Amino acid sequence: MSGHEHKYQLLVVDDEIYICNIVTEALSSSPDYQVVSFSDPKKALAYIETNQVDLVLTDLVMGDNSGVEMMDKALEHHPDCVVILMTAYPTVNNAISVMKKGAYDYLIKPFKLETLKSAIKRGLEHQALTRENLHLKEQLGLYQLSEALGSSTTLESMLNLAVDTAKSIIGVGAVSVLVSESSAQIPVPYIVKGEPADDEASDLLLGKHHISQLCFRESKVQTISRKIKGKRPVIRTMASFPLMSRNQTIGQLNIVREDCYMRLTPGQMHLLSIIASKVASVIENNRLYENLQTSYLTAIKALANAIEARDRYTRGHTDRVTILADLIASRLGWSEQDRANLKMGCTLHDIGKIGVPDAILNKPNILSNDEREQMEVHPRLGAKILEEIDHLGPAIPYVLYHHERYDGTGYPHRLAGENIPIEGRLLAVVDTYDAIVSDRPYRQGASSECAIEELQKFKGTQFDPAIVDELVAAWNEGLIEQLGIYQIKNEPAPVQ
Ligand SMILES: [Fe+2]
Repeated sequence: MSGHEHKYQLLVVDDEIYICNIVTEALSSSPDYQVVSFSDPKKALAYIETNQVDLVLTDLVMGDNSGVEMMDKALEHHPDCVVILMTAYPTVNNAISVMKKGAYDYLIKPFKLETLKSAIKRGLEHQALTRENLHLKEQLGLYQLSEALGSSTTLESMLNLAVDTAKSIIGVGAVSVLVSESSAQIPVPYIVKGEPADDEASDLLLGKHHISQLCFRESKVQTISRKIKGKRPVIRTMASFPLMSRNQTIGQLNIVREDCYMRLTPGQMHLLSIIASKVASVIENNRLYENLQTSYLTAIKALANAIEARDRYTRGHTDRVTILADLIASRLGWSEQDRANLKMGCTLHDIGKIGVPDAILNKPNILSNDEREQMEVHPRLGAKILEEIDHLGPAIPYVLYHHERYDGTGYPHRLAGENIPIEGRLLAVVDTYDAIVSDRPYRQGASSECAIEELQKFKGTQFDPAIVDELVAAWNEGLIEQLGIYQIKNEPAPVQ
């Protein structure tokens, strides 16, 4: 026991007032103890309900009230409280029964004051170890949070984890995370967990309470005791922690804790502020990632435009293919992530044409065998370019496999059927549809009816039948026309 700022709160209860006095006097000499004693057990019971108590020393038999009742009350309100019972009428049964119910020790009157002091000392040491253990468990929770944050992918799942950990630290209560788009903006609720007990609690969680409104650069805490008629008072702790990133406040973590009349310990406050800093870094990382993503997409777009600029006959092809492929992917039930990859893959699918000479790319006649060979290098070349950039990996299946054919006669790998990755099979169908309806060096674009007919004709040989069916269904429902990316041509355009 060291440091006198924190004193152990000891409660002595005995209906014989002289015992209260002797014990209190003996224990009060220690600077580590704050002793309160009652000879009226009813007053002691009331005291336990509203005050911090670390150790209870109580007589076992006191008129109508028993020491066991005192112990039950103490353990109900202070689960890690140390209870020592005293009795002048010891029986083995009594001793066993109270120890089973959670007493730490059992003293037989009369006892030496030294015996009492050493029992109290051991009890409080045991309690310190239990509290330390609890503290380690909390730290373990933080460690697990760090680990989980490392393996989570979405901002939402990461924030949920952080808020759940904050909730488990405060026990009963509610937690919210507010995030602002910029340092000048008022933070808005991102996650609220737990039921706020009243308007004041809900205001704090939503950032409308004065504590949360003040919380711009440092944490604020308010602890109030609320008296509820007919019930014991509860202590409400409300706290707001700023989410700081690069010296800017980007949001706040708010907590309301109630119905647990122990105050938040400095350790818990510390843990919550660590969680707030973790939440801030998760949000900041997510923003950086999103910026990076936008920069990548801009760079990809610039690359794709550079290729299209060389190939004057396929202008707009990449955009149209991306839009049409996304329509089909959405009908096939692809995930958000897969559709984001699809956009990148479709945009980049012909990137390998960067290595195809202009003369071949823009040749208005049908290609010779040699020229065709040079043209057919583009999927491999494109994939090779993308391999160097980690972030663009998901685009590779589109780039590499969009000229494979379902019957295994395509290039570059001559894969067949489902061995062709779905990305390649989807893009092959959409790419062909677009090629047929668009103008080419040697002909003008045909009608969509003509394209549909062509796809049906090569369904199962060149194309995956299921994907053709899906595109045809979308066309029949008028969804392709609704995309507004194709001019309507009722008749095949005359060849010039
Ligand atoms: Fe291609």
